[in-house]
Amino acid sequence: MRKIGFIGCGHMAKALIKGLQKNSSYIISGHDRNEANLAWLEHESIAQQSLENICTESDIVVICVRPKDMYDLCVSMNGVIRDDIKIVSVAAGVTLENLKTALPGRRIYRAMPNIGAKDNLGITSIFSSEQDDEILEIFNFLGKAFRVDNEEKINLHTSLIGSGPAFYFEIINEFENRLDELLPNNVSKRDITLLFLTSLISAIKNGENLEDLIASIKSKGGTTEAGLNLLYNENFIKIFSDAIDAAKNRATELSMD
Ligand SMILES: NC(=O)c1ccc[n+]([C@@H]2O[C@H](COP(=O)([O-])OP(=O)(O)OC[C@H]3O[C@@H](n4cnc5c(N)ncnc54)[C@H](OP(=O)(O)O)[C@@H]3O)[C@@H](O)[C@H]2O)c1
Repeated sequence: MRKIGFIGCGHMAKALIKGLQKNSSYIISGHDRNEANLAWLEHESIAQQSLENICTESDIVVICVRPKDMYDLCVSMNGVIRDDIKIVSVAAGVTLENLKTALPGRRIYRAMPNIGAKDNLGITSIFSSEQDDEILEIFNFLGKAFRVDNEEKINLHTSLIGSGPAFYFEIINEFENRLDELLPNNVSKRDITLLFLTSLISAIKNGENLEDLIASIKSKGGTTEAGLNLLYNENFIKIFSDAIDAAKNRATELSMD
């Protein structure tokens, strides 16, 4: 049994906890200062601990506070954390070097997960100078995890995979808005969305080339071509790519300073 303590139990920690609850070899506890998140821990029957207890009784602590709160938290942890505890930070933009400066002499891992971890469908990249695979295994239980050899790639991961779901949800949101115009009242738009997305996933699972898939829908002079031409003329592909860069650049800007 391994004890995993979460410091900061907001959106990201909840997703990680939900995924890890399916593995009985992990004993999970949480620490937070936000009443709503404390109530959630209670609802999930997860032990709440003081900062001191979580930093002494855990084998691994996962820090899930926002970047702006990292520095103060590290100062508070410094006086109390046991030497051999593995520390995982999921904070966007807070570098391994900054973490090592704030928590000197500790075994530190940067992990960049996404909310898919809730259903064990997360994708996580890990950057650390530590060589052991335990943290990799934990995040592999939450979906798929891999190490990156260059910290810059964590920022791309933050953008592509951390922020990425929100980009897709925006598109799905507009799809559902337009479904309102189409569907009779007795047909659930969420059911239609699920069918639609499942069919896309099936096509991708079959390993078909995306250009071939597009070509198979786009007949010359037809409706799909008209829609795609508008996307191309309005530079949609570039805008999407620019959004990925904007998120990546923001991750670079974020720091403990
Ligand atoms: N959300 C995502 O999809 C995602 C994806 C990848 C990485 N991340 C990273 O995950 C981290 C957390 O993001 P989030 O969206 O989960 O944030 P969040 O919902 O705001 O949760 C953070 C929680 O930590 C608490 N907290 C902050 N400082 C604390 C302290 N010193 N002691 C105790 N509790 C403290 C906050 O309390 P208050 O509300 O009182 O401040 C809040 O309840 C961020 O660094 C982010 O970069 C998030």
